[in-house]
Amino acid sequence: MVETMEEKTIQEIKQLMQLIDQKLSSVLSSPMKHDLIHEINQWSDEKQEESESLDQFLNPWEVSAKDGGKIDYDKLVDKFGCERVDQSLIDRVHRLTSRDPHVFLRRGVFFAHRDFNEILDSYERGDKFYLYTGRGPSSEALHLGHLIPFMFTKYLQEAFKVPVVIQLTDDEKFYWSKTLTVEDTESLARENIKDIIACGFDLEKTFIFKNFDFAGKFYKNTAKVGKYVRYNKVTAIFGFSDEYSIGKIGFPPVQAAPSFASSFQHLFPGKDNLRCLIPCAIDQDPYFRMTRDVAPRLGYSKPALIESSFLPSLKAMNGKMSASNPNSAIYVTDNTKDIKKKVNDLFFICDNLLFTNSQVDIPFKYLSFFLDDDTELEHIKKEYGEGRMLSGEVKQRLAEVLIEVVERHRRARAAVTDYMVDEFMAERPLPNMFK
Ligand code: TYM
Ligand code: TRP
Repeated sequence: MVETMEEKTIQEIKQLMQLIDQKLSSVLSSPMKHDLIHEINQWSDEKQEESESLDQFLNPWEVSAKDGGKIDYDKLVDKFGCERVDQSLIDRVHRLTSRDPHVFLRRGVFFAHRDFNEILDSYERGDKFYLYTGRGPSSEALHLGHLIPFMFTKYLQEAFKVPVVIQLTDDEKFYWSKTLTVEDTESLARENIKDIIACGFDLEKTFIFKNFDFAGKFYKNTAKVGKYVRYNKVTAIFGFSDEYSIGKIGFPPVQAAPSFASSFQHLFPGKDNLRCLIPCAIDQDPYFRMTRDVAPRLGYSKPALIESSFLPSLKAMNGKMSASNPNSAIYVTDNTKDIKKKVNDLFFICDNLLFTNSQVDIPFKYLSFFLDDDTELEHIKKEYGEGRMLSGEVKQRLAEVLIEVVERHRRARAAVTDYMVDEFMAERPLPNMFK
């Protein structure tokens, strides 16, 4: 029998463990045995954690799951300590807004939350809230995954009739990029803002800002957060270590501060207690765990969150789409031909075979994000699952759906002028923001 290196090492470790066991029994009468056993336990806990984090790893900059494996969102919910969005919560949104819940809610794309139920409780009593989301301008081309939180935020704005603030972290991307200058990230921010506006935000209810221009206005809140978050805390939350620049390490309070209404004196004067709801993908959770931790110390309420899973890479289900591999994502700048080709090359777990697990099938997954019609999706699921519909037909339908989404976006973006960007970014009161 041929043994692999790994098997051999595991065999050796097992022998060592037997040796330890023998040696242990000879010191069990010693008064130091408790300390020793405690030390062994701690060591094994650490190794357990290490091996779990190798299986699955996620922070705002990196997402990965074990080779080819998909991200286990249930585990993330437990590990981060957020709650699941369940049917009763979705029904409540339906009741309170008197409109069909967004497809991303119905299909479980936004699957986790923190205190969203409290936001709904107070909304029911007649108290409003504001929405906060953002984008790190690291590239000109946005992919469909980037649009997800913005499309959803736009729906929430309309459904609940509430204001939205949108942060572009040109500073963050400057700290993290090896090549981009301050001027580069600033101009990328303006380009990205055009894509964001194209999602349909209402000028009367939306304020868009980039940190290099506006962060001075909420510097007091940035400082308050910074004062109460210790170095060991950010290293634990974000995985920082000694080689990180202090720019990167010092940044998180800048993303935290817009979670507090008092950061926007031109919008919410005298309304320091207006609650904040943050729609984002779950990779941003670390920022807001930190924010929620310090909020009580500052006398502020904690921001609530509603968090999405990732639109998977076209290449595999094991992470979010990567900007560095253009074939792994559909970009909002892709033309009809690009989309057809990308969809055609799509990976099917069991091409044309009887297929039972639509969860691991990328074309179907994409349809579940972007095909609005519940009846049609159910139909495809059934026909495809039972082998009456071939993968080629599913791909063709998917290509149509994606071409429509991208085309609609392209038209909307072409209509966005530099003047409109300035209007959305103007520091102004929004008298109709709750209407
Ligand atoms: P950024 O630019 O990396 O991403 C912008 C938003 O898109 C989400 N996202 C995705 N959602 C679904 N599927 C994907 N494949 C996918 N890839 C990215 C991100 O979670 C994010 O919500 N630091 C932030 C900017 C920021 C921010 C915020 C975000 C500042 N303040 C408050 C959310 C809330 C960033 O660089 O995002
Ligand atoms: N930090 C995020 C990123 O690098 C961008 C971001 C800033 C953001 N503010 C936000 C995302 C608020 C969601 C909500 O991707």
